[in-house]
Amino acid sequence: MITERVDFLVIGSGVAGLRAAFEAAEAGQVFVITKDTLKESSTEYAQGGVAVALCDEDTIGIHFEDTIKAGDGLCVDEAVRTLVNEGPERIMELISWGAEFDKSDSRLIFTLEAAHSRRRILHAHGDSTGKEIERVLIKKAMSMPQIKKYSFAYFLDLIVIDGQCHGAYMLRDGQVTAVLAGATILATGGAGQVFSRTTNPLVATGDGLAAAYRAGAVMSDMEFVQFHPTSLYASGAPQFLISEALRGEGAVIRNIHKERFMGLYHPDAELATRDVVARAIVSEMVRTKSHHVYLDITHLDKEFIKTRFPMIYKTCLKYDIDITTELIPVSPAAHYMMGGVRTDIDGRTTIKGLFAAGEVACTGVHGANRLASNSLLEGLVFGARAGKTAVNEWDATKDMGPELRLNIAEQGRIENPDEVRSTIRRVMWEKAGIIRSAESLNEALEVFTSLRHVTELTYLSRYENEIKNILQTAELIVKSALERKTSIGAHYRSD
Ligand code: SIN
Repeated sequence: MITERVDFLVIGSGVAGLRAAFEAAEAGQVFVITKDTLKESSTEYAQGGVAVALCDEDTIGIHFEDTIKAGDGLCVDEAVRTLVNEGPERIMELISWGAEFDKSDSRLIFTLEAAHSRRRILHAHGDSTGKEIERVLIKKAMSMPQIKKYSFAYFLDLIVIDGQCHGAYMLRDGQVTAVLAGATILATGGAGQVFSRTTNPLVATGDGLAAAYRAGAVMSDMEFVQFHPTSLYASGAPQFLISEALRGEGAVIRNIHKERFMGLYHPDAELATRDVVARAIVSEMVRTKSHHVYLDITHLDKEFIKTRFPMIYKTCLKYDIDITTELIPVSPAAHYMMGGVRTDIDGRTTIKGLFAAGEVACTGVHGANRLASNSLLEGLVFGARAGKTAVNEWDATKDMGPELRLNIAEQGRIENPDEVRSTIRRVMWEKAGIIRSAESLNEALEVFTSLRHVTELTYLSRYENEIKNILQTAELIVKSALERKTSIGAHYRSD
């Protein structure tokens, strides 16, 4: 096994990881490792935008209230206050680094999304906000020689000895390397791939969640998975997010008989919180015996649709759906983990020397249900904070050589990996998805128990380790969902 040493190790290259890396680079040498290309993360695919109280008619206090309300009483106030207070500064800084948010004349355009009481969502190139933010962050990272980037470096496990994190093992070109670091920042994103229906990219396999759990970190709120109400549901088409911003601009939801129904479920209709809209859609799909509903934006001006949602327009057209004249078939899909590795608002986990930020972390900022478009802001604000804390608390002097006990489990293979992966994801969707019960959750656990052997090994391929992480994350979600017996926010128990 190769050993490398570095001052700061950042695992993940999305918004939280890169923002943290910039802070760490002020103090020392940084490695950013990522399992795919640098830009392949959930950040890249974020469409709708980034919520921030910068509009004249908005205030930080109103953003705070909306976030708390969406979180259904379970948000950590201090985390929300931090997010909304520091958000404007993080966004202005991003603009100063070259981020081009959409403007009308010279003024930023703010749009509306569900459960926001003000227009406060900034967007870029219409519906490619995450891509623009990632472009700017990668460009900045590329200009910083203190940051060494390792792409296609798969994060296997944390190196934790006697309650202290010393870095991580990574797998690159079939070779395991122990990266020993003065501080380690986990920013591996979410776990949408745990479910068979998801808006998330293929990389979102819960690697950081599962590894932190294996290392003994305290996890929080794992039962709170956000399901996005509108993911494309068309034969031959990939699962593709149809942004909430469409509803913000006036799109309505219809059942397969082309009837609107959201008003029957909630007074805010299409602009109710995501958990409410997703459940209403499921109820309507069951009532009409259908696998989807429709999103309808055809009443809006054609040119407006094409310029406001160019990526969604083009993608749907590829699958023969012209969204300016036709209804879009959609159904809910797993979208975002509100829970994760427990951290304080400065990114400290319960393991010394290990910090976490972004979707993998749980500061409590989202409570039981994340307010739309708060996640890119979360990555920026808490990524920066985790990076600063790591700089203040890293151990620059420790000689880690003598105490290092490398403990990679024996290597093996998963038999029928595709089948195992698909079984876990299907079971999660059917038994632990939008509507759960003790019975369905226990059925899921039974399946996972029969697959326990998969989690006992470390593999020499990314795909197999991802399956192991999907399984461990799935089990954490199911066990947490069993523990919380009442319905709240995104966690809905039919029993
Ligand atoms: C969307 O564009 O609907 C997703 C935005 C988000 O999840 O915050």
